[in-house]
Amino acid sequence: MSAVTAAKRFRTKAPSNSAEWRALKDHYKKMEVVHLRELFAEDPKRGERFSLQAVGLFLDYSKNRITDETLNLLFKLAEASRVRERIEAMFTGQKINVTEKRAVLHIALRAPRGEQIFVDGTDVVPEVHAVLDKMAAFANRIRSGDWKGHTGKRIKNVVNVGIGGSDLGPVMAYEALKFYSERSMQFRFVSNVDGTDFAEAVHDLDPTETLFIISSKTFTTLETMTNAHTAREWLLHGLGGDESSVAKHFVAVSTNSAEVSKFGIDTANMFEFWDWVGGRYSMDSAIGLSTMLAIGPDNFREMLDGFHEMDVHFRTASFEKNLPVLMAVLSIWYNDFFGAQTVAVLPYEQYLKRFPAYLQQLTMESNGKSVTLNGKPVKHDTGPIYWGEPGTNGQHSFYQLIHQGTRLIPCDFIGFGKSLNPLGRHHDLLMANICAQTEALAFGKTAEQVKGEGTPDWLVPHRIFEGNRPSNTIMAEKLTPRVLGKLVALYEHSVFVQGAIWNINSFDQWGVELGKVLAQRIIPELESKDEPALHHDSSTNNVIREYRKLKAN
Ligand code: F6P
Repeated sequence: MSAVTAAKRFRTKAPSNSAEWRALKDHYKKMEVVHLRELFAEDPKRGERFSLQAVGLFLDYSKNRITDETLNLLFKLAEASRVRERIEAMFTGQKINVTEKRAVLHIALRAPRGEQIFVDGTDVVPEVHAVLDKMAAFANRIRSGDWKGHTGKRIKNVVNVGIGGSDLGPVMAYEALKFYSERSMQFRFVSNVDGTDFAEAVHDLDPTETLFIISSKTFTTLETMTNAHTAREWLLHGLGGDESSVAKHFVAVSTNSAEVSKFGIDTANMFEFWDWVGGRYSMDSAIGLSTMLAIGPDNFREMLDGFHEMDVHFRTASFEKNLPVLMAVLSIWYNDFFGAQTVAVLPYEQYLKRFPAYLQQLTMESNGKSVTLNGKPVKHDTGPIYWGEPGTNGQHSFYQLIHQGTRLIPCDFIGFGKSLNPLGRHHDLLMANICAQTEALAFGKTAEQVKGEGTPDWLVPHRIFEGNRPSNTIMAEKLTPRVLGKLVALYEHSVFVQGAIWNINSFDQWGVELGKVLAQRIIPELESKDEPALHHDSSTNNVIREYRKLKAN
């Protein structure tokens, strides 16, 4: 199906004009004043009823401001938004990224060998596995020391150079799966065009033992290309300027073989992916080469299997039993009816320290949109702001605002039954904090309770916790490559469902273009020797002049 047909097919009337949306608005008026304390008091089994086990993940969603009626209404909204049909359209390779006329097939990256998924009449699954096999062969050569650097030394350092989806997924996955990584090797990630990022990443590295992976879907991104050229100079400087050394120390991950050759990397050392993989959905494509080098091909495939398990669950489970659908409709409930502006993601697992940063691109680049598929302005709020930090650090920083501030901040708590580093009582103490925080957020502390503790009257208002702050708790047995795959796919598909309900295109990112274009115009104005004629607004002109003065001093 062409992009135009796909767009037409999913053109529905504005979601906020639908009967289902209006029913939710009316329902919200009732629910806005209901406290979680009442909901739990009314139903002693609420905790069990509003929890779900699927594909090895546990979700407790009982501490949300919902009833059975709320969920029914939200599922009706999802049905009216043709979520089921849209899921099928994605899984069958239809061009649902209508503004870029592309299929959206990150699910093909983890499809098992033998499955068939067609794009423009070609089954893409064999191509996916051919690249995975090539990555595995390369990873084995590097990890075993068979691949030697230009001077014959084995590669000990891997530097991924990329930005956005070509960085955040790899960094997050490396940190998340460090426990499984090859500890005799070092992994570094350079993304920022700020030279400090590169300088610090390589300051203690020996070029003769260093491999650069230049990761860029387009191979034209300013930051990545600037860092890639600097890396080339750094390598050549360290290896006496011998150009032939590049072949042993640089590989590329890209969809653009022409640009890769132009840069000077042999396309034999290029790992390919495809335009139907969005940057922020690419960590399980060849963009994950650094991850595979770190954890090995078997663990990487385990991670892909985890993604796939969640894909199958998402495609087949009923809405009531569907983890991504549940997470998505809850997010819509707070975002569009309670007016919540943000979602906090709070992993109680140090290895997931970059997970919130990763989710920021996934969620906000996907659903930060203000026009519908028809190009009409949306009449409802779209993508909430995602943010977060690992627990328990956040507790001693911003949780105060979540507990007693004026804003409603739904939270996703993530924890595990077992620690990968079981040390004394640490893990029970960590997990006690998840339970305590979600309990405190939901139930709070009333004036009576505070007074009952002998608190003087003047202090009572300061010590009241209103409660009624919603949260989800997601748990798994322990953090493994497979579980990481499931977790990422859970959020990917939740983003998809939210975008489908808002009737927006979650798969383009035109909003990042304007700044890039303007920067290209400004670069020569900053670099020119002579004072340039400036034609911006007075503020931008003034900032440019001031910068030129400061750098000249
Ligand atoms: O600027 C946004 C963006 O296009 C992201 O969507 C993408 O992940 C990132 O830039 C990097 O792009 P590339 O992989 O093409 O260098």
